[in-house]
Amino acid sequence: MIPEEIKQEIRAIVGPDHVLDSELNRFGYSYDASFVPLLPANKPDLVVRPLTTDEVSRIMVVACEHEIPVTPRGAASGRTGGSIPLKGGISLALDRMTRIIELDLRNMMVTAEAGVRTIDLYNHCAEKGLFFPPDPASWKFSTIGGNVAENSGGMRAVKYGVTKNYVMGLEVVLADGAILRTGGKAIKNVTGYDLTSLFTGSEGTLGVVTRALFRLIPMPKRRGTLQVMFRTLDDGCRTIHTVLQSGVVPAAAEIMDRTCLEVVSRHRKTELDPEVGACIIIEIDGDDDAALETQTKRIGEAAKACGAVAFRAARSEQEAEEIWAVRRGLSSAVAALAPNRIGEDISVPRDAFPEVVRRIAEISEKQGLPIAVYGHAGDGNLHPSILCDLSKPGEMERVHQAVDDIFAAALSVGGTLSGEHGIGITKRPYIASALGDIGVRTLKAIKAALDPKGILNPGKIW
Ligand code: LAC
Ligand code: ZN
Repeated sequence: MIPEEIKQEIRAIVGPDHVLDSELNRFGYSYDASFVPLLPANKPDLVVRPLTTDEVSRIMVVACEHEIPVTPRGAASGRTGGSIPLKGGISLALDRMTRIIELDLRNMMVTAEAGVRTIDLYNHCAEKGLFFPPDPASWKFSTIGGNVAENSGGMRAVKYGVTKNYVMGLEVVLADGAILRTGGKAIKNVTGYDLTSLFTGSEGTLGVVTRALFRLIPMPKRRGTLQVMFRTLDDGCRTIHTVLQSGVVPAAAEIMDRTCLEVVSRHRKTELDPEVGACIIIEIDGDDDAALETQTKRIGEAAKACGAVAFRAARSEQEAEEIWAVRRGLSSAVAALAPNRIGEDISVPRDAFPEVVRRIAEISEKQGLPIAVYGHAGDGNLHPSILCDLSKPGEMERVHQAVDDIFAAALSVGGTLSGEHGIGITKRPYIASALGDIGVRTLKAIKAALDPKGILNPGKIW
């Protein structure tokens, strides 16, 4: 517990209205979108909502002096428990830091505080014809500080990459309260270690990201959305592979299986064709209609060659938005199918994607557990979702075995445990098998150098 005099010190920094310690508030800040089963100790002792970097710095000075754990928190849309305070202490919620500081049109860069919602940053830039591509499924509520901390991906990673590909510089409050500024607007910069990259994806364990500078690119002038149905996931996977091999790089290329399509049909109150077993959704973009037509034609040819049973291009922006909204809501919709859902985030070399999808079907069969499959097929990042009831005898063991087998399948083809959700709590047991002892030792050395008292987001990653 945090003694009253320290709470008073913190209230004096951020104002009493922004320090919460009721039972209900502490509970409210104890979970995130991973829905990791919680222990009573996982609640923060105190929720602190600073407005400025200076306030964050002063809070860290107090936390460091008294060795109070600090767990930074954005919108808590994370999938691996990153913002869950495992050791009590302070939940440092950055949701009041919502200023877009500067949109620099001449350099095509934007500076924003950690609590700015991803979609707000996107829209702000789009109004000026500039494009901020990282688009995690949760972009309507996720915040850019969390996106940086997790190095979030999204649908458009196929063509445009992930958050780290756009971070030019960061403002980070270190464990002792010092304010570090990394990078800048110079596009080439090899002065010293690449600290911007080090903090990007560090899951709040090395510092608190308070501000980020992102590069932007010109907004594509045209966009189109295609939806193609197949009998099998394999046909869908092969189509995406063929499209990419033909030199067409779609902005996004998503896949979903029959289970996911059934959820969507139920939601829309439509009948699902019994022969349909998979669907791909593709976003294409370009400078003019001709560019879109060429891509549509190539994708249509690949789909036909791979046995597509239906091919549809969205006719309006509204129709396209509806298709993408359904895709973005898929994770929550799939979670509602069973008492428990264990959602994974493996990422494999693109050419191994069809093979891994087949292996997951085998694992599902072997363990007798339904595994819904959807994900970012265009970049090899898949979210197998194990549907289970952990209250059933033996179910936990079967789920563990299935998870072990899924990770083993990913690693055996040169893939990795997490494409975009991070390690957090849920993937900790597997970090050594993914990185090896020397890899983990190197991570720990960096952690020890930057946070010697181990107060920043303790208990995460390993
Ligand atoms: C998605 C999230 C779960 O792709 O990453 O829906
Ligand atoms: Zn995803």
